Amino acid sequence: MYRVGIIGLGSIAARYSNPSDPHPYCHTGGIRQCEATDLVAVADLSEDRKTEFKETWGPGFPDQSINYYDTDAEMLENEDLDIVSVCVRGPYHFAVMQNVLKSDVKAIFLEKPAGCSLEEVDQMTVTAAEKRIPIIVDYSRHWAPHLLRLQELVAEGLVGQVKSVIGYCPATILSFAIHNTDMICQFAGYDPMSVSAHINQGGGQVPEGYEPEPSIIGSIIHFQSGIQGFHVGEHGTKGAFSVDVLGTEGQLRTGYSRSATALHDKDGKLVDNTTLGLPTNQSVFKIAYQQIADYLEGGDLPHCSRNNYIAVNEIGFATIESGLIGQTIEIPCQERGRLIYANG
Ligand SMILES: NC(=O)c1ccc[n+]([C@@H]2O[C@H](COP(=O)([O-])OP(=O)(O)OC[C@H]3O[C@@H](n4cnc5c(N)ncnc54)[C@H](O)[C@@H]3O)[C@@H](O)[C@H]2O)c1
Repeated sequence: MYRVGIIGLGSIAARYSNPSDPHPYCHTGGIRQCEATDLVAVADLSEDRKTEFKETWGPGFPDQSINYYDTDAEMLENEDLDIVSVCVRGPYHFAVMQNVLKSDVKAIFLEKPAGCSLEEVDQMTVTAAEKRIPIIVDYSRHWAPHLLRLQELVAEGLVGQVKSVIGYCPATILSFAIHNTDMICQFAGYDPMSVSAHINQGGGQVPEGYEPEPSIIGSIIHFQSGIQGFHVGEHGTKGAFSVDVLGTEGQLRTGYSRSATALHDKDGKLVDNTTLGLPTNQSVFKIAYQQIADYLEGGDLPHCSRNNYIAVNEIGFATIESGLIGQTIEIPCQERGRLIYANG
């Protein structure tokens, strides 16, 4: 069993679900359902959050099996952890990751957005590579079982040669729409070349040194493979976190909701979904933790690690840069210091 510690006991760590949820959408629920992982420690600055966690999740774990800490540093100093899950808000990722990367952890599951600037993400990535610690960024919808299967089927030619992938998500670029950026890459590939975007600049008070986080109106992502990605933001009419995959032999519509999946052949005829053999729903967190555990057993790198999160993150920051200066931005983005208050 791999020993897991969570830093930050907020919504995504624990509050979006509870132990009775069959498909929990949170780290704690996923770790609990994954047969290869044990939750042994949690840390949060807030007493209220720890108390709430103990009351909600305590009964879902063996008695006294979880140790509670006030800070990430205290937990890392006192525990021997295999996997650390970083679930604090974006502007705190960099500082917490510095601490985690000093420890002897074997894998880090980092919440999106990876960081608030490309420089932050570069530094984490370099240190992690030196220490051979994989960082897996949680674009959580990626691990929906039907999406993982459709990703394989599309790679095997389900819609022929993929020409375009259109993603729909009206939201702030790094904090929310980044899930959709990953979903576009899930079907288009992780080899982006340039981005041309229109954005809403965003506003409100942000801490000194930061710029407000913009939201996306629309963008075009050019991939080295020749595939075009289109991110439809605020002008989109479809629900968030969905994609259309347009190929030479057909068109696939899918998204986080399994029931949204519809395949049309090249003559426009709807294909019976049951022929796709799509797996049933499971907790995306359970699947992600299982992939991390499989990797630690000598298996493949988990999805959303290394080149994959780097590509998604580059697209996110290139989208902002393109929107702000009104030009197409080549990837890797030259401007790496722009600090965005990605606090979602
Ligand atoms: N994958 C998803 O679908 C999804 C959904 C929601 C949020 N998120 C991401 O998860 C992250 C957290 O968001 P949230 O809404 O759960 O946040 P939240 O504000 O609900 O909780 C964050 C918690 O971290 C604690 N904290 C901060 N610094 C700490 C430290 N150094 N040591 C210990 N505890 C610390 C805070 O006290 C707080 O309880 C963000 O990066 C956000 O973008 C992802």
